[in-house]
Amino acid sequence: MEEKLKEIVERTFCKLESVIDNKELAALKVEILGKNGELTGILRNLKDLPADKRPMAGKLVNDARTRLEEAFDKKFKKLYEEELSKKLDEEKIDITIEGKDRKKGGLHPLTIVKNSVIDFFSSLGFMVVDSPEIETDYYNFKALNTPDNHPARDMQDTFYITSNILLRTQTSAGQIRTMEKIKPPIKMINIGRVFRADDVDATHSPVFHQIEGLVVDNHITMCDLKGILDRFARFFFGENTKTRFRPSYFPFTEPSVEVDASCPYCGGKGCRVCKGTGWIEILGAGMVNRNVLKNCDINPDEYTGFAFGIGLDRITVIRYGINDMRLEFENDLRFLKQFN
Ligand code: DAH
Repeated sequence: MEEKLKEIVERTFCKLESVIDNKELAALKVEILGKNGELTGILRNLKDLPADKRPMAGKLVNDARTRLEEAFDKKFKKLYEEELSKKLDEEKIDITIEGKDRKKGGLHPLTIVKNSVIDFFSSLGFMVVDSPEIETDYYNFKALNTPDNHPARDMQDTFYITSNILLRTQTSAGQIRTMEKIKPPIKMINIGRVFRADDVDATHSPVFHQIEGLVVDNHITMCDLKGILDRFARFFFGENTKTRFRPSYFPFTEPSVEVDASCPYCGGKGCRVCKGTGWIEILGAGMVNRNVLKNCDINPDEYTGFAFGIGLDRITVIRYGINDMRLEFENDLRFLKQFN
């Protein structure tokens, strides 16, 4: 038996030399030390030896087993290290090679302007709310003091989905949704897409964007409206910008105004951009009509408010001197690259 053990150990050592990977190593280990392995077989046969020989023989088998296990462990480590150093050699990277020039994306001009408008109004404590693009007639018109057959409906060419459901023509619908949920004090802006059945040309698009603003509290007056819009115009078009209010009409405000900013290109002297007038219209606004407050269960004897609606596309083309609104929707990279 001693001979046999010696033979197994030597043969295994010899085979270990030529093993080249973990798979072979594992197979060899099973063959010798596994449950049905050669060495295990010998161990099992010990019970057939005379009792006085068993301890000695047991020791020999266990010694052989220990030596073999050590040899397998050593080989395992060696293979691992070889593999690692091979990997390190192969996967070396040259950190001196110049990097690839990745093209960076940029923000769309409308997004740039939208973000700066949000910055301005949120710095004054306005919250930013969202409201649906698909609206009911109630939110888009009726609750805004524009009942059926009201002549003001003709001011906006509406895309109707059913007789009662439509694509919102104005973000003003968000005023009603806000006042239904929150009671005064309210200070909110609502920015989003609006839709009108207009033909596309340099100044019209069936989809465009509005910024709606609403403030409702005790003692809100037209002075508050003037103050905030004047500050906005100076923030957006430059410190020297002046504003003027012209009387106008919207069903949901009383009184209503249209607001002009002095032309940022000529400073008010008159140029091609302002068509020689020195002024550019930037928004509509007014004091919230009592009926609108009532429709939202807000007592108009206790609270007053102002609202405004700014054309986001309009102030964007003015700020950047874009001469055709279609450019804002065509996603032409040559155009968009100029803003970053
Ligand atoms: N909704 C109006 C429009 O689309 C713009 C507007 C005017 C909004 C006056 C207002 C406002 O909130 O007070 O023409």
